[in-house]
Amino acid sequence: MTKPTVVIVDPYSSGNLLAAGLRAAGFSIVGVLTSNPPPEVYRASFFPDVLDEYFFGETVTPDLVSRLHETTPVAVLAGAEPGVELADLLAAELTPHLANTPALGSARRHKGHMVEGVAAQGLRTIRTVATDDPEEVGKWLDRESLTGCDLVVKPAKSVGADGVTFVRGGTEWRRAFDDLIGATNRLGARNEQVVVQERVVGVEYVVNTFTFDGEHAVTDIACYRKVLRGESAAGSAAIYESVRFLPCAAPGNETLVAYTRDVLDALGIRFGPAHTELMLTEDGPVLIETGARIAGGGMPESARLATGDNAIGRLARYLRGDRRQRLDYHLRRSVIVVFLLPPSRGRIRNTRTYEAIRELPSCDLLHVNVRDGDLVGAESNLFASLDYGFAVLVHDDPAQTEADYARIRCIEKAIEVDGDSSDPVIGRRGDPG
Ligand SMILES: Nc1ncnc2c1ncn2[C@@H]1O[C@H](COP(=O)(O)OP(=O)(O)OP(=O)(O)O)[C@@H](O)[C@H]1O
Ligand SMILES: [Mg+2]
Repeated sequence: MTKPTVVIVDPYSSGNLLAAGLRAAGFSIVGVLTSNPPPEVYRASFFPDVLDEYFFGETVTPDLVSRLHETTPVAVLAGAEPGVELADLLAAELTPHLANTPALGSARRHKGHMVEGVAAQGLRTIRTVATDDPEEVGKWLDRESLTGCDLVVKPAKSVGADGVTFVRGGTEWRRAFDDLIGATNRLGARNEQVVVQERVVGVEYVVNTFTFDGEHAVTDIACYRKVLRGESAAGSAAIYESVRFLPCAAPGNETLVAYTRDVLDALGIRFGPAHTELMLTEDGPVLIETGARIAGGGMPESARLATGDNAIGRLARYLRGDRRQRLDYHLRRSVIVVFLLPPSRGRIRNTRTYEAIRELPSCDLLHVNVRDGDLVGAESNLFASLDYGFAVLVHDDPAQTEADYARIRCIEKAIEVDGDSSDPVIGRRGDPG
């Protein structure tokens, strides 16, 4: 019997896990790459070996559709963020019963249109303007009485916190805006528009989901901790400090899940994995963004350690005909992903110090990506923060993972960094979301 085929557009980052997982589950995988070669930031996470074949295609063309049609795909999915729009369009052509609402395609990718789409359904959103015209930002700030307030300036379409800049009120936004507009982002695309938003304050969560047959099943919920780094005249950036997986029914999660499901409906997400980032503020949850794709940065692997399952497993079972899926999950073990954060800026000296992390009772995995002599501490986005490395702590007892988390931050205090340097950080293995 021939294997059923799944098409994955931009099978990088966790899209590679998606391809490998579906392949192991007995599917044949056809890749579509929206740029040739793949963007630099994804090269390390692109493994052509997990694909049965792949094509290049930036947009829907009769030729691409007809080639993919010949493979009789059972589903078309995005592997990584740049593939979201094309995956949606191809799914509408090739597997319309398993496709997101075509008219809302831009709301699933462009952060300004996303906010508009969510607000149009009466849901709470962050006050946002998306434009290429700084005059418009000035007028919007006046209209919203946001002049002088803390703001976030970011490209309308990007990943990995690339260009996401926190600025104080007043006029600082203008420098960040000018730096971004028209610039080439880390995905190799030009920033056609820039988003300026009020900066919301709260605790940040991610709700990962798998949508099928009109239901949004929650596969895992995690709490993000981030720190502000790279303070400069143009503003600062928030980078990952740790990610904690939570029980599905943890206090407060009900509100996050209800809001997320409303957001997914508002964005026309009808099939497949999605990754929604929220800020829980004093007034309740508010959307940072939804990725109409699997969570990046290897998060499905950590979710599997925590829950025994993930969106890839659910998708594979659904495509094999299992329609009786649970809409929540059971947290089996406590999992914390801890990102290494060298304490100051300069050349790192004693990276062997990190090896002590391996001895911690809950340490499941340690990746140290820095070597003695590397420049550290000027990171301004996720690409850089992931470059240092991370530890995955896994244990039945949450008290143990918390104790080991605290221990890692102590171990890190012994890291020595020589002097200051204005050289850029050498990025090595960043795998953005
Ligand atoms: N308006 C805002 N108010 C407060 N924090 C924000 C705001 N916008 C973004 N952030 C913070 O910056 C982070 C990155 O922003 P965003 O998710 O929009 O960019 P991204 O490039 O998609 O990043 P990633 O790939 O890490 O998700 C968010 O996860 C959040 O911590
Ligand atoms: Mg994000």
